[in-house]
Amino acid sequence: MIPTHVAFIMDGNGRWASARGMKRNEGHRAGTENIRGIIRHSKNLGIKYLTFYAFSAENFSRPVEEVGFLMKLIPEFFNREIVELTQEGARIQIIGDISQFAKPIQMVLRQAEKLTRQNDTIILNFALAYGGRQEIVQAVNRLIESGKKQVTEQDFSDALYTGGMPDPDLIIRTSGEQRVSNFLLYQSAYSEFYFTPVYWPDFSVDEYDKALADYHSRKRRFGGLDADENH
Ligand code: IPE
Ligand code: IPE
Ligand code: MG
Repeated sequence: MIPTHVAFIMDGNGRWASARGMKRNEGHRAGTENIRGIIRHSKNLGIKYLTFYAFSAENFSRPVEEVGFLMKLIPEFFNREIVELTQEGARIQIIGDISQFAKPIQMVLRQAEKLTRQNDTIILNFALAYGGRQEIVQAVNRLIESGKKQVTEQDFSDALYTGGMPDPDLIIRTSGEQRVSNFLLYQSAYSEFYFTPVYWPDFSVDEYDKALADYHSRKRRFGGLDADENH
């Protein structure tokens, strides 16, 4: 089975650079250059949704020099990739509280969303200034503001940044860390997780295929039983 929605925790840029005697920021640059191939391969396989965890709400606590570099790299990435992504029929959506970003960066991000709004070959979510707990709290506040006294699971998931999108089938985390780090907390209830020691800039299409093959071999039960287990 090919997953409908794959999400990536793109971790290990800093260690990739350090291992090469380079500055951490060079790892971030290499990391952004790895994204294009992953998108193209996903599109060729018919995967419909991708989510990239690019900058967490907690990443603001990094040294100003690193945060400053990332704040340059993020708009640069969108300005560079937008033409090709548009041609490929990709729709860009930002999830996270980007009101914390400087106005010109917000404008680049909103523009990328606007320019690709009509596309539907592949949907790309970029999680920026994103935190799963913050997302849940903002959903609660949105629902309170709407005047609801009671909510259904549907109301709640609609109020998340990912409202209207299917939950991730597969979440891939690179760099050897085996934790969620505040990513898609509500949406990952039944996601399959794949952890690899490979650092994000080295996460090639071959490595991606390994993850997809592993996913293919899994039995998803959603709390039930498979047909062949029911005897
Ligand atoms: C992931 O790489 C990118 C961001 C969090 C922005 P890291 O910067 O976390 O790299 P490591 O984990 O320190 O190697
Ligand atoms: C998670 O990586 C966030 C992103 C990949 C954007 P971190 O490097 O921030 O996570 P921790 O701090 O190791 O949990
Ligand atoms: Mg990290």
